[in-house]
Amino acid sequence: MIIFTEEFRVFFNDLALKKIADQCLKASLDAFNVNNGNIPKWSVAIEELKTIPKTKIELNEPYISIGQNGNNTKIIETALKRLLPWRKGPFIFDNLKLESEWQGGLKWQRLQNHITPLKNRRVLDVGAGNGYFTLRMAIEGASKALGIEPFLLFNYQYAAIKSLSNSKINAMLLPIRLEEMPKLAIFDSVFSMGVLYHQRDHMQHLSQLMEMMAPDAELILETLVVEGPNGYSLIPEGRYAQMRNVHCLPSIETLKSWLVKANFKNIKVIDINKTTPEEQRKSEWIGDNAASLEDFLDPSDSSLTKEGHPAPTRVIIICQN
Ligand SMILES: C[S@@+](CC[C@H](N)C(=O)[O-])C[C@H]1O[C@@H](n2cnc3c(N)ncnc32)[C@H](O)[C@@H]1O
Repeated sequence: MIIFTEEFRVFFNDLALKKIADQCLKASLDAFNVNNGNIPKWSVAIEELKTIPKTKIELNEPYISIGQNGNNTKIIETALKRLLPWRKGPFIFDNLKLESEWQGGLKWQRLQNHITPLKNRRVLDVGAGNGYFTLRMAIEGASKALGIEPFLLFNYQYAAIKSLSNSKINAMLLPIRLEEMPKLAIFDSVFSMGVLYHQRDHMQHLSQLMEMMAPDAELILETLVVEGPNGYSLIPEGRYAQMRNVHCLPSIETLKSWLVKANFKNIKVIDINKTTPEEQRKSEWIGDNAASLEDFLDPSDSSLTKEGHPAPTRVIIICQN
C-alpha cells in the first residue's frame, strides 16, 4: 500500500480541500485495496527507491529532474523498470534520462503562454497519468496541484518519483475517477487533457468538470478532434489508432457546441496540433518492441490510422464557467 496518510494530511490541510478530504481518502484507500497481481512487483520498486537519499525536484526543461550524486543510477533504473510502461514524462533521475513514450514538454509549450498563470491557484488535473503535468503545475507555483488518475500503475510511478524527492512540492496524485470526486466548486484551474474521448458520456464529463470549478475558474481541455462541420463527430467502430475505448472524436465546431451546451463561456481554441512521432515515440521505457504512434498509422499514408480514420490531431481549448 502506498498511501501516504501523512502526505495526504499535509496536502489537504487547506480550507477548501478539507471539505472533501475524507471522501477523497476513502476513495483512494478503496482503490489501492484492490487485488492486482502486479502490486507486489510495484511495491518492491518503491521499497528499493526508498533506500536512496532524497533530493530536490526541479524542472530541467522538458525534464522533471531529481538530481543525485551519480552513484545510484543503476538501482534507480532497475526499480523504475519494474514500473513499465512509462507513457508520460520525460524525467531525469540521478544521471538517468527516462525518455517516456510522450514528450510531455511539447504539450506544455503549446498551452503554457495561454493559460492564466498557475501561481497561487488551486489546480485539478483530471486523468493525470503519472503526474508529469501535475508536477509541472506545482513547479509553476500552484498553491495546490491535485491530480486524479484511476490507473494504479501510474499512481505507483508517481509514488516512485515522490519517494526520490525531498521537496515540499504542492502536488498530490490520487487514484480517483472524476465521477468519484466529491463535487465542490473549489478549483481555480481545471485540466482535462487526453480524457474526453475516453468517456462514454462526453456531456457528463464536461458538466462534472464544471462542478469542480470555483467562480471565474478556467478549464483547459485537450482532446482528439477530426475535421468536419458543426454536428459532425467520428464514432470509431472498434479501435482508433490501436486504442480501445475511444468513444467519440468531434469536429472543433461540434466540441465548441458541446461546451456551450454545458454552459461554458469565452471558449477559445488556442492550439490545433497533429501528433508527430517526435512527440509520441518508441522508447525502451515502454518495454522492448512496444508499439507507438508510427505503428498505429497506415504505413502507406501517415494521414490515416491503421483503421483508416484521420490520424490523431489534438485541440486545446480554454474556457470559463
Ligand atoms: C491519454 S491519458 C492523458 C494523460 C495526461 N493528462 C496527458 O495529457 O498526457 C488519459 C488518462 O485519463 C485517465 N482517465 C480516463 N477516464 C478518466 C476519468 N473518468 N477520471 C479520471 N481519469 C480518467 C486514464 O486512466 C488515462 O491515464
